[in-house]
Amino acid sequence: MASPIIQKFGGIHLNSVWWKEAVIYQIYPKSFCDDNGDGYGDIRGIINKLPYVVDLGVDVIWLTPFFKSPMVDNGYDISDYTDIEPMFGNMEDMEELIEKAHELGLKILVDLVLNHTSSEHPWFIQAVASKENSYRDFYIFQETENGKPPNNWRSVFGGSAWERLDNSTYYLHTFHKEQPDLNWESPRMRSAIYQSINFWMDKGIQGFRIDAITFIKKGSLNTYGVEDNNDGLRSIMKDTLNQSGIHDFLQEMKTATYGNGEYMTVAEAPGVTYDSLGDYVGECGDFSMIFDFSYTDLDLQEDFSWYPKRKWTFQEYKSKLFESQLEHQKVGWVGLFNESHDQPRSIDKFFGIGDDSKHHYLKATVLATMFFFMRGTPFIYQGQELGIRNYRFTDIDELDDIAAKDNYNRALSLGANKNEAMRIVNERSRDHARTPMIWNSEKNAGFTIGDPWLPICRKYKEINIEEQRHQTVSILNFYKSMIALRKKEKDCIVYGEIQPILESMHNIIAYKRISSEGEQITIVTNLSDKPIEINHKIKHYKVLLSNYHTAENNRVFDDGWLRPYESVIVKTELN
Ligand code: GLC
Repeated sequence: MASPIIQKFGGIHLNSVWWKEAVIYQIYPKSFCDDNGDGYGDIRGIINKLPYVVDLGVDVIWLTPFFKSPMVDNGYDISDYTDIEPMFGNMEDMEELIEKAHELGLKILVDLVLNHTSSEHPWFIQAVASKENSYRDFYIFQETENGKPPNNWRSVFGGSAWERLDNSTYYLHTFHKEQPDLNWESPRMRSAIYQSINFWMDKGIQGFRIDAITFIKKGSLNTYGVEDNNDGLRSIMKDTLNQSGIHDFLQEMKTATYGNGEYMTVAEAPGVTYDSLGDYVGECGDFSMIFDFSYTDLDLQEDFSWYPKRKWTFQEYKSKLFESQLEHQKVGWVGLFNESHDQPRSIDKFFGIGDDSKHHYLKATVLATMFFFMRGTPFIYQGQELGIRNYRFTDIDELDDIAAKDNYNRALSLGANKNEAMRIVNERSRDHARTPMIWNSEKNAGFTIGDPWLPICRKYKEINIEEQRHQTVSILNFYKSMIALRKKEKDCIVYGEIQPILESMHNIIAYKRISSEGEQITIVTNLSDKPIEINHKIKHYKVLLSNYHTAENNRVFDDGWLRPYESVIVKTELN
């Protein structure tokens, strides 16, 4: 019998769309592959490696920003939406990448950064030239009488969110001061942005990842917001995230650009509350799906700062994760992820920093299984499929990320010494995820023949793509098996309902996926280093995948014991 959820949405066929079935691979161009030997990854490097991406079995690549940029925030500071950053190549290279990817059956998502531009964008240069300039209303300026910033907002990357232009005028930057916020109240600005989006659609790409989009509508600019013990971050979050009126902009943008058609959109949407989810996703929502940070950012404070790091437990993580899954199941779709260019590597995040490499394969694959079969579209961040670990940085000069530098200085200003400040930075620096891809055991792991812009993972001789490709049992091959399994069992794994099971069991994350025909796939993961007895019997089942090599003989649902870090996926045999 069809489950209530599937009935509600009209059955499998009405629901079936390519982006629900797809697996997405996120590429950070600066760190993927360097073709010209300057130490930075580039578009030609990506073209060279397309066969690897195809072999992995994914359907879509998401390219983080490659647009013209001073690279203050590694491309999330765009100075021309319709041109290519020379470090990465030129428009011909990009056109070739799009064409070659399509020939190989890969779709492309482009990153849209719409909350802010670079301060080197010609719009901003015009806007600050004079108060009368016709681009003035593209950005947010405030006049003050006392020479002080209009309010106490702190920017995400440190310091006041207001940068002084002259004695009485400030402009707003939610992120870095070289990333001034666009003024979405300006119809001309919105129309210029829509033209840039359409430019990329005309180039033939299939969708967008939309950056920091829940910040575009501002609340009151002149108030001091909430009582804020945390130097203004809490205030800016309260008054700029998910504000009333945002959907007028988002719906207008949708109509003017990607519309209701075949395009996929995934929005980075911090601050979305579940009661407003239906406006963001679902049949008439603004996007195909969002990234939900309620569980991935559990180690951050409420205002996204990570000093001091928030303590969390697997039970708390699990309850947030399932809450997210069940809330999304009511109204729409979600992007599933464990890692990204903004997150530390997952093995370190879940099992501890600097933890030894014991059980490396099991830890990486149990985490992979845990998230990959949930209801939503899975995203794999480059290197996750090898189990790349955090890089232990020893000096702040080894890091590039502005957020890491801000956190380092913030820790120092709060009384930490240099060693403590480095320990804090090592906990969550975004540069952990940005160290170059490790292709083989040759010099610089095959990433570049030049000097890599960030250090290369120290263990690249043991952990690299070439090695893992040839091992029968490897993290890479496990990812390939997961991707193939998701495609093979799509009635359950893509379109099925999700039901959490064994919720009260510590260190176990487990759930069922149930198809409209009543087929059931059960996914069970043991996130601890101890065997755990689970009280969950299934009478007739077939093991589809397990991270222990004895998958065929896996009797977990007969004898009831899960081994350390074991993950197992079984299908109940129907009589
Ligand atoms: C998003 C991006 C992040 C960037 C920020 C500002 O969070 O993922 O990398 O720094 O937006 O654009």
